Amino acid sequence: MKGFSKLSPQEKLLLASERFEDPASTAKQFESFQHPDEETQEILSGISENTISNYPLPYNVAPNFLINGKLFMVPMVTEESSVVAAASSAARFWVEKGGFHARVAQNIKNGQLHFLYGGAADKLKAAMPDIESSLRAEAKPVTKNMEQRGGGIRTITLNDRRHLIDGYFQLHVRFDTIDAMGANFINSCLEVFASALGSFFDNTDGFDRNDYEPLMAILSNYNDQCLVEVSVSCDVDALGHAAPQLSAEAFVRRFILALKVAESDIYRATTHNKGIMNGVDAVILATGNDFRAIEAGAHAWAARSGQYRSLSQADVQDNRFSFSLQMPMALGTVGGLTRLHPLAARSLEMLGNPDAKALMMVAGAAGLANNFAAIRSLTTTGIQSGHMRMHLSNIIMQLNTTKEEARYIKKHFAEEKISYQAVAQFLEVIRKRGT
Ligand code: MEV
Repeated sequence: MKGFSKLSPQEKLLLASERFEDPASTAKQFESFQHPDEETQEILSGISENTISNYPLPYNVAPNFLINGKLFMVPMVTEESSVVAAASSAARFWVEKGGFHARVAQNIKNGQLHFLYGGAADKLKAAMPDIESSLRAEAKPVTKNMEQRGGGIRTITLNDRRHLIDGYFQLHVRFDTIDAMGANFINSCLEVFASALGSFFDNTDGFDRNDYEPLMAILSNYNDQCLVEVSVSCDVDALGHAAPQLSAEAFVRRFILALKVAESDIYRATTHNKGIMNGVDAVILATGNDFRAIEAGAHAWAARSGQYRSLSQADVQDNRFSFSLQMPMALGTVGGLTRLHPLAARSLEMLGNPDAKALMMVAGAAGLANNFAAIRSLTTTGIQSGHMRMHLSNIIMQLNTTKEEARYIKKHFAEEKISYQAVAQFLEVIRKRGT
């Protein structure tokens, strides 16, 4: 299909609907999810390409998040029913024990210019101070505003990678983008660098531009100097009510064992970290940030020792239980979608219009809260009873029940084991019975 992107939104919608059995009702359904306010729909369509409708997800809130002494109601966008319940219950649990303690030591982002160089490497290395000032000067039009806000290019390092790939070098650049995620800023700087380095070779005696082949100029999502740390702690005795059927000591023992398993086994570590990302991603989505970037960076960080491990840790010392999370999190509170998407802007407002570091702490706290709730369930009751109870509403919806049937099913399954099959069978019985 040629020229699809040039069609009007309505033409695109109709053309896409033709692929369905009933094009007319399909088009109508897509249309029903478009925003009734034209201006808002234009904003939403402008965010992406070839938009024919919207795909709504639930917008949820988790109250009682005490972070560094300040109470937050945390906006969370997710499709997984138990995530917000888990975050809320963990936040409620820790609010009486001092809440979450969080900090962001550094907020530095990485970018790289990958290139091949066939000239003398020692001369290239010796010329780095001149190269650096020339690149910084060329990038001034891009960096000027960011510098006025206190950010900009921090360091430029030449890495010789010829032992990996013939002729391969890289410029590794560290940036401070303050409250912006900074992807466009970083990529623009790096693209200026790619051509400015060519000009430097052109205009400097002893260098030949033909020795230089720029390959890629792109930010890195591995931001190992943009880390958030979040922790909770309390006396072991205070965990007596964490799991009614276990003593505080037994609970802590099982909790720490679960963390040890996630430290040593990749299959478990992946799921453990997925539980953390349940909370983190929901905040990232709600605030218009890039969850794929954070996911990629988080999992790379989890594997930094050479083995993929848990992102969180638990410990007991002097009868004090502590549970903490450290992970990279390059978030922004200005630019990108953060202000463009009307609900992302509302999410930031709900959080008191945080700067990037404060938002990193909130997302980190949501991650640790979800992780705590998951490990608590897994090492005590198991997750299925809670999950399936949340899932019951989805099953009921899938089965197209009447309101009365739904009420009846919920009452019945308050005490019964829930599964799709069991609910479907029960529905059949009550329909036959005419209840
Ligand atoms: C489900 O979305 C997340 C969990 O599997 C996390 C975990 O196992 O730690 C419950």
